Amino acid sequence: MIPYEKHILVCTNRRDPQNPKGSCAHSDAESICEVFKKELALRGLRGRMRANSSGCLDQCSKGPVVVVYPEAVWYQVPTVADAHEIIEQHIVGGQPVSRLRIASQD
Ligand code: FES
Repeated sequence: MIPYEKHILVCTNRRDPQNPKGSCAHSDAESICEVFKKELALRGLRGRMRANSSGCLDQCSKGPVVVVYPEAVWYQVPTVADAHEIIEQHIVGGQPVSRLRIASQD
């Protein structure tokens, strides 16, 4: 049995600022993760859906990186406004946000 209708993983990995790979934490991924967690709670979706911070998802140059399962839709989420758009259109509305998807999936 799949425990959640949707499971949102938000990379919040942090590397040393000198590391050439960069990291999602340096692009404010913690704020993005908080938006997903708070919005699920505010909308009464906790229990049916879950948002977690995660380690590196190996798409570091595109961070902050978010993946939504079970659809396995990968996003680049540069702002909290973009996170709100994904919540409204994809998580609640069921339609992925094309403009934020990581290009290799399009
Ligand atoms: S640090 Fe976020 S995908 Fe690698």
